[in-house]
Amino acid sequence: MADRSRVFVSRRIPDQGLDPILAACDATVWPDELPPSRDQLLSAVEGCDGILTLLTDRVDAELLDRAGPRLKVVSNYAVGFDNIVVGEATERSVAVGNTPGVLTDTTADLAFALLMAAGRRVVEGDHYVRAGRWRTWGPLLLLGTDISGSTIGIVGFGRIGQAMACRAAGFGMTVLYHDVARLPGDVTQPLRATYVELDELFARADFVSLHTNLTPETRHLVNATRLRSMKATAVLINTSRGPVVDQQALYRALEEGWIMAAGLDVTDPEPMPADDPLLTLENCLVVPHIASASRATRGKMAEMAAANLLAGVRGERIPTPVNPEVYDSSPPGG
Ligand code: DGY
Repeated sequence: MADRSRVFVSRRIPDQGLDPILAACDATVWPDELPPSRDQLLSAVEGCDGILTLLTDRVDAELLDRAGPRLKVVSNYAVGFDNIVVGEATERSVAVGNTPGVLTDTTADLAFALLMAAGRRVVEGDHYVRAGRWRTWGPLLLLGTDISGSTIGIVGFGRIGQAMACRAAGFGMTVLYHDVARLPGDVTQPLRATYVELDELFARADFVSLHTNLTPETRHLVNATRLRSMKATAVLINTSRGPVVDQQALYRALEEGWIMAAGLDVTDPEPMPADDPLLTLENCLVVPHIASASRATRGKMAEMAAANLLAGVRGERIPTPVNPEVYDSSPPGG
């Protein structure tokens, strides 16, 4: 059919998103588990009306220019969009979509799982048993940090940070939070969350959980100074973006006992190389960026990403734009 929109989908996504795209568009789907190389990506997007990207695809001026003037929409299969230079898309009247909301609880669940596992040394205990080291019940064996009744410091109090607070409240934790601005009482009071400055948060928390976007201001927000200010029994959890933590400083903090443990879903770089020094430490738990990886959530993300892509190529307002200003002046793509 001559007038079907041309789209590139940079990886196979769950069928509930892929099927409607294949039904409506002339779609090329990258078939491999690994992402296309930069050159492959640039040539795949040429002449497209829409692109469905993953957080491993960098969308910048070069890519948008290679896509050309037909491009109306970039639909990111993620809530985060630090892989996209949004200003460059806006300048070209290209709508950028993400998948907010549907992964909030799933991500907070994983963050809390890391918090409990790192705090109570679950993975370390499993390794201990498998290595044949379990000889007796020991009064001092694998002592961790209590979760119930302790204090959590949440950095970034958006949807996922608030969902984390909700879980923490269920464990009777004192909830401290920091964000660029204080949130209104109708958000913070039901969660019994108290705003504090970052320095106070790092000094008081037994668990620090990161839920901030990656921006120039938050890059290496967790540095040697902040890690040194934490309690020696404290645990750091990162499900935001790897570069929010200075990993060299984290290695020293864990190795030298400035803090007790860390649980990371995100690293810098990703994937984390198998010879990364952090992987030599039993008190550093690392999982491969799976916070949103439940079957149901990945399916809902696929539906949302497809809805953004399809609305965009039809020239309609996309359901969840991150740059709604593209609709202020000119029609999308115009
Ligand atoms: C996101 O959506 O930004 C997560 O990092 C992956 O689900």
